[in-house]
Amino acid sequence: MKILVLNGVNLDMLGKRNPTFYGSLTLKQLNAKVKAFAKGLGAKAIFAHSNCEGKLVDILHRTKCDAVLFNPGAYTHYSYALRDAIECMSVPVVEVHLSNVMEREPFRKIDVIEDVVAAKFYGKKEQSYFDGVSYVVKELSK
Ligand code: DQA
Repeated sequence: MKILVLNGVNLDMLGKRNPTFYGSLTLKQLNAKVKAFAKGLGAKAIFAHSNCEGKLVDILHRTKCDAVLFNPGAYTHYSYALRDAIECMSVPVVEVHLSNVMEREPFRKIDVIEDVVAAKFYGKKEQSYFDGVSYVVKELSK
């Protein structure tokens, strides 16, 4: 089972962003942890990142993975382009966020992709990603 872990805008700045919300891991360190966690469950995680909305759309369109774990960053709150890209995918997309988007600024409660994702995990820093991987492995093993 191959899982694409796709991180969007500003997630390359992890390690420099507010640790209260995002933890102190860099994106490279986060990816290494997710890779090891997925391997422990018998899955192969591969990684991609872009700050560009259109590039994220292209990556989604082209994926050959069995599922996608996706943290779009701030695009979550307003990108109808990403929403439509997810909607026409034939593999499940699971939304993940490091921070608790429901208990921050009001604009973060707006989520334009939540009705087209298979599940959503947030608020537990890297554990949100682990929960997303566990969900995917469980669902695809049914
Ligand atoms: C985020 C939450 C978003 O609101 C924010 O814009 C991000 C990161 C998260 O992982 O908590 O860049 O997606």
